[in-house]
Amino acid sequence: MDTALLIEKLNQNHALTKSEALQLIREGAEYKDKLFALAQRAAQQSFGRNIFVRGLIEFTNYCKNDCYYCGIRRSNKNAARYRLTRDEILECCRAGYALGFRTFVLQGGEDYTYSGDDIAAIVRAIKQQHPDCAVTLSIGERSRETYKLWKEAGADRYLLRHETADFNHYAMLHPAELSAANRQSCLYTLKELGYQAGAGFMVGSPYQTAENLADDLMFLQKLRPQMIGIGPFIPHHDTPFKDEPAGSVELTLVLLAILRLLFPHVLLPATTALGTLCPGGRVLGIKAGANVIMPNLSPQNVRGKYLLYDNKLHSGAEAAEALELLKKEVAGIGYKIVAARGDYTEESWTQG
Ligand code: 5AD
Repeated sequence: MDTALLIEKLNQNHALTKSEALQLIREGAEYKDKLFALAQRAAQQSFGRNIFVRGLIEFTNYCKNDCYYCGIRRSNKNAARYRLTRDEILECCRAGYALGFRTFVLQGGEDYTYSGDDIAAIVRAIKQQHPDCAVTLSIGERSRETYKLWKEAGADRYLLRHETADFNHYAMLHPAELSAANRQSCLYTLKELGYQAGAGFMVGSPYQTAENLADDLMFLQKLRPQMIGIGPFIPHHDTPFKDEPAGSVELTLVLLAILRLLFPHVLLPATTALGTLCPGGRVLGIKAGANVIMPNLSPQNVRGKYLLYDNKLHSGAEAAEALELLKKEVAGIGYKIVAARGDYTEESWTQG
């Protein structure tokens, strides 16, 4: 089918076959203005001109895993490691609440120093102090029992990127003890337990093919997550992938637009990685259909240490205190940041 026609079909809520997805991934950039305009319109139909913000608290950069792409992998002896205490995390939430954040994202490496019960206690404390806020966890693969414990403690959402849906490609990015099968099964478990679940992948990760990306879209159509996080791969100098090229900003934007059209109500952030590779990247993300921004709420003294990749933004408009700056940035393209939980819903979102 002609690509322009395919984009029209996509815009009419048409699910993609793998070969259609492949065609859009290969040729989407030629039609990017059309894609971005349609995606922006779809986002506005779901969310108006509102942007949800999430306060990101990176509470530990210890990690038991050794992913080849990631700067906080356990083998990186140069990483300056830190952990936040429960009180430090609660202090971040207090500060964030005053700034207008109503979702807190606890993100960290897979750090078993925090037991399942420790995390549950932290979630309970946040929910007790801020009953009108949502808590999102992003701390990797755990057992169904642990996910259930955290859900019962009050966690609302869980971010766990599937990274790549293709099992062989997954094995090129991760050591043998990690598997795509387990990652994907965690995502199904999280959904089943009632979390709003977020999957996602890097764009331009080493060895990635257009077909891999098409498989990512097929996987997402099957899983139907409430949130999708994508961003360009960016090399980190202390990882095996230090000499690999970064992913393309343009392809990331094209994929954001395709995702918005495929999933009109999905919560879709303009990620820090996108902002890192390209000045104004987050605004471009919104123009390609994103509706979420996740500024950094971690304490100042650790912010420079959560380095998944080189040059990761952690100051300026990326920082939570600079919400005013961010508000201006999005106001410049006619959007506004709202103080709301911003839960997933299939209704059209109106403030109130
Ligand atoms: N470049 C871009 N994204 C990365 N992530 C980890 N390392 C990198 C990198 N070098 C992403 C992964 C992970 C998320 C927390 O950050 O997709 O799931």
